Amino acid sequence: MKHQKQNSGNERPERSATAVAHANIALIKYWGKRSLSRNLPAVGSISMTVDSLKTETEVSFEDTLEQDHFELNGKKVKGPARERVSSFLDLIRPTERETYAEVVSTNNFPTGAGLASSASGFAALTLAASRAAGQHLKKKDLSRVARQGSGSAARSVYGGLVEMKRGATPDGKGDYAETLADEDYWDLRLVVVLTAEDGKEVGSTQGMIHAAETSPFYSKWIDEQPADLEAMRQAIVQKNFEKLGELTERSCFKMHGLMMAAQPSLLYWNPTTVMVVQKVRELRSQGIPAYITMDAGPQVKILCLPAWIDNIKQALSTINSIKKLWICKPGPAAEIISREKEKA
Ligand code: PMV
Repeated sequence: MKHQKQNSGNERPERSATAVAHANIALIKYWGKRSLSRNLPAVGSISMTVDSLKTETEVSFEDTLEQDHFELNGKKVKGPARERVSSFLDLIRPTERETYAEVVSTNNFPTGAGLASSASGFAALTLAASRAAGQHLKKKDLSRVARQGSGSAARSVYGGLVEMKRGATPDGKGDYAETLADEDYWDLRLVVVLTAEDGKEVGSTQGMIHAAETSPFYSKWIDEQPADLEAMRQAIVQKNFEKLGELTERSCFKMHGLMMAAQPSLLYWNPTTVMVVQKVRELRSQGIPAYITMDAGPQVKILCLPAWIDNIKQALSTINSIKKLWICKPGPAAEIISREKEKA
C-alpha cells in the first residue's frame, strides 16, 4: 500500500502491520456519552458488521519520523482529522520512546457521510497500530481501545451480530463489545442506500452532547435502552426476523426523534431519505418484510432477508435521486492481513 522506505545501516527496522475492518450498522443505536474524556457510552448498543464496506489500514512506526503522517484514500490528511488519529495513536505507541507512525488508510466507501467509516476506520487502526507496536491484544481489549477512537468502532472488532456493553465504572473497564452471533449465524441483508455523498453536517459527538443537553426525550431514551437491548437479544436468539426488524426501526426513530426534539433541532435527512422510508413502508404494506435504519447522516439502510432483495431493488429503482446501493451480508471480524495475502 505505501512506499517502502530504505533502511540505512543502524536504523531499527520499521514496525509495520496492515489490518482490515468492516463497518457496522447499529440495529439498537448508540447515542449519548456518559464520559467525554474516556468516550464512554451512556447506553449499550447492538449492531451488524457488514461485508461490503471496509477500511484497510497500514501502520508503520518509524524512528525517523518527526510527527505522525496520515494518508486517506491516496490523499495526505492534515488538521483536526490528522490530530484525531495522532492523539488516538498516543494510546498505543511503543512506550520505550516517542515513536511516530505513518498511517495509510483506504475506505471502499464514502467517508464521514453516516456510513460508519469511523467504525471501520478506528477498528482497523487499532488492530494495525497495536500489532505494529508489538502488542497482541485480546478482542475485548482491542474493542476497549477502539472505543476511545469512536464508540461504534468497538463493535467493528467483531463480525456478525455484536453487542457493545455500557459499563458501570468510570474507568471504562466494562465498556467493550462482545460477539452475539458470528457472520454465519443468520443470512440477513442490509441494503445500504446512498442518498447524498457529502459529509455530515453535525458530527456524532457534537450531536450527542447537544441532544443530551436540550432534548426532552433524552432521559426516556436512556431509561428504555436496557429493555430494547434485551428484546433484541431475544429476537436474535429466536431468529425472529419481524421482531428484529421492528426493534431496529423503532430504535432508529427513537434516536432521530430525540435529535429532532433538540433545541435547535437536529435533522440529518434529505428528501430522498424520506422517499426511501416511504417506499419501505409501502413494501411492508404489500407484505414484504423490510425495515429501515439510519445513522447520523441521510443514508438509509434497509434490513431484509435474501428472498426479498429483488423486490426491494425494483422498488428503489423508481427513486432517481438515489446515488448508489450496496447489498450487504453479515461481515467478518477485523483481521491482520499478511503481506503475502495483501499481494495476492
Ligand atoms: O461511533 P460514533 O461516535 O460515530 O457514533 C455512532 C452513532 C450512530 O452511528 C448514529 C449510532 C451507532 O450506534 O452506530
